[in-house]
Amino acid sequence: MTRGEKLYEGKAKILYATEDPQLVIQYFKDDATAFNAQKRGTIVDKGVVNNQISVHLFQWLEREGVPTHFVKQLSDREMLVKRLEIIPLEVTIRNIVAGGMAKMLGLEEGIVLKQPVFEWHYKSDALGDPLINDDHIFALGAATAQELAHIRQQSYRVNDVLKRYFAQRSIDLVDFKLEFGRCQDKILLGDEISPDTCRFWEQGTKRKLDKDRFRRDLGDIEAAYQEMLNRVIGAPAAR
Ligand code: TMP
Repeated sequence: MTRGEKLYEGKAKILYATEDPQLVIQYFKDDATAFNAQKRGTIVDKGVVNNQISVHLFQWLEREGVPTHFVKQLSDREMLVKRLEIIPLEVTIRNIVAGGMAKMLGLEEGIVLKQPVFEWHYKSDALGDPLINDDHIFALGAATAQELAHIRQQSYRVNDVLKRYFAQRSIDLVDFKLEFGRCQDKILLGDEISPDTCRFWEQGTKRKLDKDRFRRDLGDIEAAYQEMLNRVIGAPAAR
């Protein structure tokens, strides 16, 4: 597969065309942004680590029955994916209070939720990805009721699979963000799953192993990303 024209450049990734109109190359950059790109920086080799973590987790999710856009890894920083018509929604699932939920509801970070909290956000940098509900989505014409039901079900499945996967590696999956897209008559999980898009806390120590180290200037960012890669590709702890 050869890299064709640049189709889109986002904050952390670039999409390139290929000779097959159904397939695109997703290239992972080292650029990091936070707070709607008000804070910018570089995390050395983040692109390599996030590509590998995403490859591994997409393969695992496929095995567990969640269809994704992933086709194959092409290089250190590139994966081949199916071309999606991205639905302009971001799904967040939270298992433990942190970040936006702590702020919005005035809660302490670290409260374990009795059940996962599911959120829709409208994917718009200009608006800061606002929290919205189903009615807003219909008003925007962004997706149908049937599509929302399907995405919700798939997202909970992702949560179940990944929570278990990370628990076996002594990591709490605090929360994460997913994006979905249309591909012919199917809806596939897209984007990436990485320390940029999830919160990971080491069990016991609660050490943060994700982008909060960058957002909050906690230091040791590269080491945290590398540690997550080692956990993801490592064997599960015997239980
Ligand atoms: P939040 O607590 O800031 O709303 O973030 C919830 C989860 O979503 C967290 O795991 C980080 C991820 N996330 C993204 O992937 N992209 C974003 O733009 C934001 C704000 C959060």
